[in-house]
Amino acid sequence: MGSRMGRWFILVAGSLTCLDAAQATANSALGSTQAGPLSFEFFKIRVQPIFLKERQGHARCYGCHTLENRIFHLEPLSSGQSDWSEEQSKINFESASHLVVPGDPNSSKLLIHPLAPEAGGDPFHSGGRQFESQDDPDWLAIAEWIRKASGENRESSRSAARVYVTNSAGSTIDVIDTATNQVAQVIHGIELPHGIAFSPDGTRVYVSNESESVLDVVDRKSGEVLKKIPLSARPNNIAVTKDGGRVLVGIRTSPGFVDVIDTTTLVRTKSIPVSGSVHNVFVTPDGKYAVSGSIENKTATVIDLEDEQAVWEIKFDRSVRPMAFEANTDGSTRRIFIQLSNFNGFAVVDFATRAEVARIKLPDHPGGFGTAEGRTGTPSHGIGVAPDGKSLWVNSTLANAVFKYSLPDLTLLGYAALPEVHPLGHAPTGSVPEWITFTADSRRVYVSNSADRSVSAIDAESLKVVAVIPVGEVPKRINTLFLH
Ligand code: HEC
Repeated sequence: MGSRMGRWFILVAGSLTCLDAAQATANSALGSTQAGPLSFEFFKIRVQPIFLKERQGHARCYGCHTLENRIFHLEPLSSGQSDWSEEQSKINFESASHLVVPGDPNSSKLLIHPLAPEAGGDPFHSGGRQFESQDDPDWLAIAEWIRKASGENRESSRSAARVYVTNSAGSTIDVIDTATNQVAQVIHGIELPHGIAFSPDGTRVYVSNESESVLDVVDRKSGEVLKKIPLSARPNNIAVTKDGGRVLVGIRTSPGFVDVIDTTTLVRTKSIPVSGSVHNVFVTPDGKYAVSGSIENKTATVIDLEDEQAVWEIKFDRSVRPMAFEANTDGSTRRIFIQLSNFNGFAVVDFATRAEVARIKLPDHPGGFGTAEGRTGTPSHGIGVAPDGKSLWVNSTLANAVFKYSLPDLTLLGYAALPEVHPLGHAPTGSVPEWITFTADSRRVYVSNSADRSVSAIDAESLKVVAVIPVGEVPKRINTLFLH
């Protein structure tokens, strides 16, 4: 008798609480379906079924989230029903809406809590890693619902971009669609591809080919090699002039040249002598100059692109590695940020006075990487200024992270950790980051992880890793093609 009473009491109390809550949420749900920016229709048709469906290897969201004390609360189905009624759907809609930030999937608890921590999710969800990655179709459907609510389509500039990554220890180039963070195309047949850049109209991809000492001209859509242009010697990185008329190729062999390729005739028209064999070549933001850097000569050489001649150079005490450029408001070059061998940071060069004005060391924490990987000689490799000019991003092998600084003041804003490698019988090692690129809207940063066969996609604002994308064996050069 006693136990019967008890059970009965709990049942009554339970359904009473449930009714109260249901009434309250139903009322506010009506309000928000009218005024709220999230679509109730989209939720009902595309999102809600995910909570009910059997997802392989997982219990259903419905199985746990009908409990009253769940913040993310789903209505229990009426007996005999396999789907929610309109009224119940509105209550579910309200509950789910409280756990999202309209327009911003990556700040939305509904998506981040059940997402694998390795893919940018919260560290623990009692319901497990319901979504292995941000590429899960169900995850993407919920993300679409959230994103649509922003009014404007924030993804527009991102979805129209491709990130190209060369596999420096193979013969492939992976092309990542930034809308899905998945490899959408693989270009084959260029052994030891090095630098990668594009014609401004996006029809061609230029790749420096180390094994044949040529510049490969690739048809972007088909991925077919249209032409192999012989270079003066073994190449390193490349850059395209702003008007797209010339491809500049750094020549890695001594004494050091920057080869000039005419993109109309597709022939080499000149080899500009520079100080020392070339590691990288860049074009300044205004398109007026090219700057090449030399490991052997510890020098950066500035080339006037009008008469294709070296005009000035700057010497360092250490080898010159990757560079990034900051522009003045009129577009001219203000500063060059230069990474140097054996220095975990970068030098700051004032372009007008042609002098080093500062040397910025990266923080010591996090740290502890780079020694087992044999990379302490290049502690910091890969640097980039976001397209909006507001931040500078610097890779650190020792930290196994990418640091973010604000511009122009160079205040450290934080870092995003890169993946760890787990060698058999050894403590975790770093991913040896190589290069950096961005989406046009500056909201995403992509870092090639050369030891991890992956590319990290990082949310520039929250510094959260939103995806780790598997690519070829040793990914290095990485560049974004903005499609219009
Ligand atoms: C095995 C039971 C279980 C399953 C299945 C489950 N969850 Fe959870 N979930 C929980 C528990 C328990 C919590 C409370 C906080 C915690 O421990 O993570 C929670 C928390 C959450 C939260 C944070 C808000 C809250 O209620 O605390 C969200 C959002 C969430 N889950 C979404 C989902 C989604 C979406 C699914 C299905 C794709 C799902 N969960 C499947 C048990 C589960």
